Amino acid sequence: MLILGIESSCDETGVALVETVGAAVPVLRAHALHSQIAMHQAYGGVVPELASRDHIRRVLPLTDQVLADAGAALADVDLVAFTQGPGLAGALLVGAGVAVALGAALQRPTLGVHHLEGHLLSPFLSADPPSFPFVALLVSGGHTQLMRVDGVGRYELLGETIDDAAGEAFDKSAKLLGLPYPGGPHLARLAEQGNPTAYALPRPLLHSGDLDFSFAGLKTAVLTQVKRLVSAQLSGPLSPHAAEALSEADRADVAASTQAAIVEVLLKKSLAALTRTGLTRLVVAGGVGANRQLRMQLNAACQARGVRVHYPELHLCTDNGAMIAMAAAMRVQARLWQPPGPGATASHSFAVRPRWPLQDLGC
Ligand code: KG4
Ligand code: ZN
Repeated sequence: MLILGIESSCDETGVALVETVGAAVPVLRAHALHSQIAMHQAYGGVVPELASRDHIRRVLPLTDQVLADAGAALADVDLVAFTQGPGLAGALLVGAGVAVALGAALQRPTLGVHHLEGHLLSPFLSADPPSFPFVALLVSGGHTQLMRVDGVGRYELLGETIDDAAGEAFDKSAKLLGLPYPGGPHLARLAEQGNPTAYALPRPLLHSGDLDFSFAGLKTAVLTQVKRLVSAQLSGPLSPHAAEALSEADRADVAASTQAAIVEVLLKKSLAALTRTGLTRLVVAGGVGANRQLRMQLNAACQARGVRVHYPELHLCTDNGAMIAMAAAMRVQARLWQPPGPGATASHSFAVRPRWPLQDLGC
């Protein structure tokens, strides 16, 4: 079965073709991606209306490219999958609309996929795929969750952020340091030159005894630290350019201390989730999963405990179409989705779910 996957939930348009053969791990035939980062950079964050318009421009040329790369024709596609949520409503509607239109034209079924299930299952696209059950640390720009995963669609929420996501903490702290959007990778790069113990930033909820996270206070602590460092040069409210008054060494130290605080909380809570569940496999997914420090510290701690850690390929950590096609493929294999019967009348209506908790997928 050949599955076309379309991702358009935020600022990346992704299209991919994944093929299932029996019960074997589905295979990625081709994928293509257009990132809108350069377009949104001037505004310091994603502008939803611009995102939607750009998805409209990109999605069909990317589809043509993927089909050409895979040596396939549109008529070969058996199922059209798309990100149904969560995400920006207008952006989601583009992918959903195109998918349903393609399905109608080709007389093929469509399947709405949960974006976080895509991230969660993306390590199955790697050369070293995990096996169930495992603990999943989902760390993206909008979500920070620990899940127990017993199979496709069998997700139990163990803990989550009560305010900002880890990616948001990276991005907001980076903004305070005058770094461009999206700040996470820029902050991580700057942090490599800094001292992670230079400033004692808070590790929110580290000792809370549960598996929840809180990162909003960290951003405030970073702001206070930046203010303290620039106070000699400035008076009054901190302008967006205040961090420019800092030396490169100070900025690197704040970046390294911020990253250390986020990584320590993610690491300790992931280990606590492994202890609580008694599981010996950890999957890390979502954009923050690309963070080198997080990977190094998780690898070291898990190796010491005999726990295997699985990541998506680095280029599939952030949003992409491959994970959407993959999640659809694994749903099909798990018989969580069945094609409409021969007598079924096709409805071409569709809806998106900008807010959609992953645990609603149920077990
Ligand atoms: O999963 P993703 O691509 O989009 C969402 O579904 O939100 O994650 C994007 C997030 C952003 O906050 C970005 O700054 C962060 O992932 N990110 C990183 C790194 N690469 C991406 N954060 C820290 N270090 C990185 N290397
Ligand atoms: Zn994502």
